Amino acid sequence: MSLQDIKHIALVLSGKGGVGKSSVTTQLALALSLQGHNVGVLDIDLTGPSIPRFFGIESAKVRQAPGGWLPVQVHDGQEASDKTNGHHENGQEKNSQSGHGALYCMSLGFLLANRGDAVVWRGPKKTAMVRQFLSDVHWGPLDYLLIDTPPGTSDEHISLVETLLKSATPEQLAGAVIVTTPQAISVSDVKKEINFCRKTSVHVLGVIENMAGFVCPNCAECTDVFSKGGGKAMATEFEVPFLGSVPIDPMFIRLIEEGKAPVYPEGTVVDGQDMHQNGEKSEVGDEGLLVEKYARCSLCPVFAGIVRGLVDNINVTAG
Ligand SMILES: Nc1ncnc2c1ncn2[C@@H]1O[C@H](COP(=O)(O)OP(=O)(O)OP(=O)(O)O)[C@@H](O)[C@H]1O
Ligand code: SF4
Ligand SMILES: [Mg+2]
Repeated sequence: MSLQDIKHIALVLSGKGGVGKSSVTTQLALALSLQGHNVGVLDIDLTGPSIPRFFGIESAKVRQAPGGWLPVQVHDGQEASDKTNGHHENGQEKNSQSGHGALYCMSLGFLLANRGDAVVWRGPKKTAMVRQFLSDVHWGPLDYLLIDTPPGTSDEHISLVETLLKSATPEQLAGAVIVTTPQAISVSDVKKEINFCRKTSVHVLGVIENMAGFVCPNCAECTDVFSKGGGKAMATEFEVPFLGSVPIDPMFIRLIEEGKAPVYPEGTVVDGQDMHQNGEKSEVGDEGLLVEKYARCSLCPVFAGIVRGLVDNINVTAG
């Protein structure tokens, strides 16, 4: 019932921990929202739920509704508004405000009494919790539901996929995005994830290589110091689509941890976009919505491209 009005469901997987599944899930959600889609994020990492922290909503509480829970709203949908005909006080023209789709989250983190509570659950209880998360959350109509998972292929993954195969239609279950890093081109880890998908008949939507390159917050000399390209080679070898490479950006961490809008030194160009100039044009300050501040992050144009590829792959699969 709770999945009924969701158009597409995608899982985010990785062989190793700490490669950036949760930050990739977060940014896929923000980028999809910026492209006007209504998005939900379900965090089934039961031992280390980090989605509430990524969205800056750690103190939020889920509300009970008849037969289940209401997800926590990160932001409401907003139509694009064109403000260019009015003039700003200082004579400058305002940028038109781009709109965004609504964004909702559900995580075990919201249900734990204390944030730091470690949950040590055995298999059956985990399975029950995952099932409940899939059946009892009133998402409402969504274009995309992204599911952040723990590393590897554990009990949670198995019960997740089993439940999805039963309760979602094949058209709804779009497939999985696999996250890796240039270091963790420990090919065997990714291979395990791909094998897991093939065994469980979950379509592989593509691979994202995270932490490839570096956006320095101090000067623009060394952007792209780290190697990249390994992810693409690996995707080609395993015959799965490659969705893109994502650099390390300390301004993204600052945005998540301190809520500060990203700023970049002159000359910082990422994916062909001048991030310094973008920041100067933006009127969004530290008090703006996360999604508005993220639009100033160097990783935003990167994820805009990734999401376009992902949406294309999902539409092809969905026929
Ligand atoms: N491209 C990036 N730029 C900057 N920081 C990043 C980037 N990717 C990930 N991080 C940071 O690295 C840390 C680990 O990332 P994250 O929590 O997303 O990994 P994970 O794969 O979900 O980990 P786990 O296996 O524990 O669930 C986080 O603090 C995150 O903010
Ligand atoms: S970009 Fe500039 S400040 Fe950053 S590491 Fe390179 S030289 Fe140092
Ligand atoms: Mg995580």
